[in-house]
Amino acid sequence: MTLSSHLSDSLISTLPGASYTDPALFAREQEHIFEAMWVCAVRAGDLDRPGAYRTVDVGRESVLITRARDRSVRAFFNVCRHRGARLCAEEAGEVRRAFQCPYHAWTYDLTGKLLAAPNLTRMPDVGRTEYGLTGVATREWLGYVWVCVAEEPPPFEEVTQDVVARLGDTESIEHYGIDHLALGKRIRYDVRANWKLIVENFMECYHCATIHPELTDVLPEFADGYAAQYYVGHGAAFGDGVKGFTVDGSEGLDRIPGISQERDRRYYAITVRPQVFLNLVPDHVILHRLYPVAVDRTVVECDWLYLPYVVESGRDISRSVELFDRVNRQDFEACERCQPAMSSRMYARGGVLVPSEHHIGEFHGWIQQRLGKREVGRSVSPGAPSGG
Ligand code: FES
Ligand code: FE
Repeated sequence: MTLSSHLSDSLISTLPGASYTDPALFAREQEHIFEAMWVCAVRAGDLDRPGAYRTVDVGRESVLITRARDRSVRAFFNVCRHRGARLCAEEAGEVRRAFQCPYHAWTYDLTGKLLAAPNLTRMPDVGRTEYGLTGVATREWLGYVWVCVAEEPPPFEEVTQDVVARLGDTESIEHYGIDHLALGKRIRYDVRANWKLIVENFMECYHCATIHPELTDVLPEFADGYAAQYYVGHGAAFGDGVKGFTVDGSEGLDRIPGISQERDRRYYAITVRPQVFLNLVPDHVILHRLYPVAVDRTVVECDWLYLPYVVESGRDISRSVELFDRVNRQDFEACERCQPAMSSRMYARGGVLVPSEHHIGEFHGWIQQRLGKREVGRSVSPGAPSGG
């Protein structure tokens, strides 16, 4: 894969077009990225009682996540130990005390132990734990359950390091008390684009002036496209007349108590590799989870999180939700506009990144590194911030 060697000094190369269209390469990304790293799977509050469960695709694996009777979160490969039937076909549901395979009725308790199976008493040598469901590593952070299907999960610091690179530390994010916020709105977007186009788009703000009129009205500094160049810890300031992070700049909801004066009226965006985008504003947090389902298709689940009493009291959050819902739709439309061109002969060697996008080159280098390839483009400093 040779990229153009005659670039102007201002430009660096993107990945070649095939990176966004080749199913074999997508399978390698699933293996070396999504099946090797910690991924953000479900909001812990979605598993609100024992037996509540969710199934989530992690790379090419389906993972079943539930809450046991001791209220601990448990995750398993969603594969029956008998002959491999998918245990739970639904995305969400609830069982009373056990998961029963619909094929031959092997039954597992909420900790994964084999409870019962037809004729099991005639097979006394079959260990209940040994033939229980295969566990998947879990961690709870920011009120979400993160899972890792790797045999030896990497240190969880792999997740937090992107937050440190952006904010300078992890304490800054703790002030938002994200684990105690409540889900105000969830929107699922089915995006006809490769997951990397969505990540790249989130990392830059060169497009903000063109496609995000509402966002640049609220955050005027995004209008010059250089938001991504800000130093560690910088949050974009709300415009002078702006009262809140809403679609029309009108008043937002109640401020999260941990937010200091200095973080008030500021917007922070963080890309947590490989599949989370976080937006922090004084009165809410927006968290996106990306689920790549095919080389040219990605499901994005976006949660808007507010103080619990704001959600419980039924306060109107629609203007607040509408701002980033519009931003999301504008972004995803742009990604979908690029996807078909990735297979064009003209784009075989890829495109170029202007200086305010050069930090995307670090993301590309990281992808290449995970896949065991040499880096592309010119090296730029890591830990680059995100735009809108
Ligand atoms: Fe699950 Fe047989 S495959 S019980
Ligand atoms: Fe955007």
